[in-house]
Amino acid sequence: MNKKIVFSGIQPSGDLHIGNYIGAVRQWAAGQNDGLNIFCVVDMHAITVPQDPKTLAQKTREITAILLASGIDTEKSLLFVQSHNPDHANLGWVLNNYLSMGQLNRMTQYKEKSEGKEFVSVGLFDYPALMASDILLYDTTEVPVGDDQKQHVELARDVAERFNSKYGETFVLPESKIPKVGGRVMSLCDPTKKMSKSDPNPNGAIGLLEDPKSARKKIMSAVTDSGSEVKMDWVNKPGISNLLEIYSQLSGKEYVGGNNYGEFKTAVADVVEKFLIDFQKKYNEVLQSGKLDEVLKEGAQKSYALSHPKLLEVYKKVGFLV
Ligand code: AMP
Ligand code: TRP
Repeated sequence: MNKKIVFSGIQPSGDLHIGNYIGAVRQWAAGQNDGLNIFCVVDMHAITVPQDPKTLAQKTREITAILLASGIDTEKSLLFVQSHNPDHANLGWVLNNYLSMGQLNRMTQYKEKSEGKEFVSVGLFDYPALMASDILLYDTTEVPVGDDQKQHVELARDVAERFNSKYGETFVLPESKIPKVGGRVMSLCDPTKKMSKSDPNPNGAIGLLEDPKSARKKIMSAVTDSGSEVKMDWVNKPGISNLLEIYSQLSGKEYVGGNNYGEFKTAVADVVEKFLIDFQKKYNEVLQSGKLDEVLKEGAQKSYALSHPKLLEVYKKVGFLV
């Protein structure tokens, strides 16, 4: 039985919202006491689509601080920026040669992201090879991701299997782990769609760093359903169910009020506002502590110490002089 090793990555693009927090980041923090947990800010994945350099640098720092504010504890877990550890790109290059064009062509995220674009980079097409490298470098057993990433984790397994059968046992086969509760926080404007950073309607999502008063307004004007009962029913009442979910996830308790939609929304808005005020206080403390650079430097060193023996093992197996 392998030791539990968890790896997840998050792109420093767009604004993180409460869906990312509930469905991903908070669950990462909650799992920290079990096994080895590795969290990576994947800036090299972010440049597969055009990025403004200043914004990318600023977002990389911002997301790192958000992870720390969400409870990722560098005493327990590894937190680092992908481009700080060159092994990721290096193993990614090797893995490229054990993946076929056809395999990558089947990735639905590639199809979605490239559709209608004038310029589609080779990097966007090759994105899953780098992601496989992220995962396989650390003997990862579990990859907590949203369902949209499941196909990429399967590809990582496939390439690991192909490499292992050619060169002997090298990589651990990872499994994706899709969170159940709170796995999907829906848009406030259209509760049949996931809350998303790329939603063109800014009222659909609540950013973690957004003004708590503006978040209040978004909750108050969230789409609800016909009828008047406040109850969990994702099929007939997706809007109310989504707000109930947000309420319980952020407050840690069930809503026990009555069936008045206005009162209910006010209660949800109170919970969201309080959550954001507390969260942003922690975020600002992280920034003001001046520890960010130190955390990143240490993360880079620690991750390299773990990944480099694996890279050398691979290099040797394929015939590079090491
Ligand atoms: P993304 O924002 O798509 O880059 O996703 C970053 C992480 O947050 C992934 O693990 C996603 O599954 C998770 N995530 C993104 N949107 C939501 C959402 N609306 N509800 C729950 N989890 C989400
Ligand atoms: N592709 C993931 C996303 O867009 C981010 C990511 C990159 C990742 N490398 C990873 C997630 C490795 C899990 C494991 O959400």
